[in-house]
Amino acid sequence: MPKTLIEPFRIKSVEPIRMTTRADRERLLEAAHLNVFLLRAEDVLIDWLTDSGTGAMSSRQWGAIMEGDESYAGARSFYRLEKVVQDLTGMPHFIPTHQGRAAEKVLFSTACQKGQVVPNNCHFDTTRANLEYLGVEALDLVIAEGLQPALIHPFKGNIDLVRAEGLLKERGDAIPFGMLTVTNNTGGGQPVSMANIRDYAALLKRYGKPLVMDICRFAENAMFIKLREPGYADTPVRAIAQEMLSYADGCTMSAKKDGMVNIGGFIALKDDRWLEGARNALILSEGFPTYGGLAGRDLEALAVGLEEGLQEDYLRYRLRTAEYLGERLEAAGIGFVKPTGGHAVYIDARTVLPDMPQAHYPAWALTNALYLEGGIRGVEIGSVMFGKRLADGTETYHGMELVRLAFPRRMYTQSHFDYAAEVIAEVKGRAAHIRGVRIVRQPPFLRHFTGEFAWVD
Ligand code: F0G
Repeated sequence: MPKTLIEPFRIKSVEPIRMTTRADRERLLEAAHLNVFLLRAEDVLIDWLTDSGTGAMSSRQWGAIMEGDESYAGARSFYRLEKVVQDLTGMPHFIPTHQGRAAEKVLFSTACQKGQVVPNNCHFDTTRANLEYLGVEALDLVIAEGLQPALIHPFKGNIDLVRAEGLLKERGDAIPFGMLTVTNNTGGGQPVSMANIRDYAALLKRYGKPLVMDICRFAENAMFIKLREPGYADTPVRAIAQEMLSYADGCTMSAKKDGMVNIGGFIALKDDRWLEGARNALILSEGFPTYGGLAGRDLEALAVGLEEGLQEDYLRYRLRTAEYLGERLEAAGIGFVKPTGGHAVYIDARTVLPDMPQAHYPAWALTNALYLEGGIRGVEIGSVMFGKRLADGTETYHGMELVRLAFPRRMYTQSHFDYAAEVIAEVKGRAAHIRGVRIVRQPPFLRHFTGEFAWVD
C-alpha cells in the first residue's frame, strides 16, 4: 500500500492566492499595528489564523443551499437540521444560534449567576469571556500532562478528576454545571478520552451537577478515540460521537468547525431545565427559535456538514495533515505540542526564541515573524491572549507561549504544508533577529483581537 494519504476530494472551484514580497509584508504588518488579526486576508498567503468557518464546503452542501426555506417561523430547513442534531446528540431540544459564542451567551445567561464557578478542561477564550462577563469564574482543570508541550500522552485534553472532585467538595454550592471542551482547543487541540468523559459525567452526577459539553470539534475527538482508545478501533466514528454525547446533559456547538460550514452554531439540551430561559434569551439577541440568527440555507448546509464531518476517510486525512506538519517541524528541531492535535499544530515559541523574556511576548513575536518570512498567518496562544494587565499596571503571564497554526477544512493541499514547513525552519534559523513587542493599546476583554503593538527596541 502506498504510504501517502491523499486528500480525499477533488477541487471543483478555486480561489487565487495573491503573492506578496517580504517588503510588502513589512509595510502591511506595520500598518496593522503588528497584529495579524488586523491584516486584510488578501495580504495573507496561507491563512492559518483559524479553522473556524474558513473551510471549503462540498458540492453537496452548495446544492443543499438552494433548498433553504427562508420562512421566518417553522421553516422546513429547521426541522431537517433538528432531526440531524437530535440523532447525533440524543438530545431532544435543539436551539440554533449564529455561532458558538452566541450559544454560550444564550445558555450561560440562563444557566449561571454571578459568584458561581464553572470547571472545564480548558475554557476557550470566548467561553471564558462570556462567563467572566456574568461574574462567573472559569476554572481550567486540564490534567498536568496537558500543560507540558513536549510530553506525549494520548489524551492530553482530559480533565483532572481529582481536582474536579476537590472543587465539587469545597465549592459545590457555587457550581451550576461542569463543562468539557472536545477537543481541548486552548490546550493544543488535544482529545479527551471516552473514559474521562464517562468518569467526569459520573462524578458530576454524584454531586447533582449536569455536564455541558463544548462540542466544536467532536468529530475529530471521536476519531482520536477510535485511533487511540482501547476497545474503539472497530466502532464507527459516528457511534463513538453518539456515545460521547450520551454522557452530556447539554452542549454548545460552533458549527464553524466540525459542522463544516462557514457560519452557524447551536445549543442542544437533554431536558427542559434551561430551555425556556435559553429560548427567551435567543429571541432577544439571535432571532426566532426556528432560525436563531441563521438563514434557512445555512441550516441546510449544516445538516449536510454534520454528516460529512464524520466521514472516516476525511477524518483520517484531517488528523494526518497535522501529524505530517509535526513530523517536518520535528526534523527541523522545532518544539510543538505533542502529539499534534486535530485541527492545528501549536508551535512552542520558547523552543524558537528561548532567550526572549515573556514580557516581550515571544509567541506574538513568532507569529509576526511567520507572516514576515512567508506570509503565513497563525495566532498567538500565550500571554497576549491569556495574560492580563492589572489595575496597578503589572502584567500576568500565561503558562505556555504557543503559536497555533489552525487548518481550514478541505482547503490547503500538501504543497502548502511543505511550503509552511520550509518557512518555519527559515524563521528558526533567523531567530536571533526576531524582535519582541510591547502593547500600545488594549481593550478590556479579548485584547488579542484588536490590541495594538510596537517593536521592543
Ligand atoms: N469553543 C471552542 C472550543 C472554540 O474553539 C470556539 C471558537 C468557540 C467555542 C466559539 O465559537 O467562534 O463560533 O463563536 N474558536 C475559533 C478558533 C474562533 O479560532 O479557535 P465561535
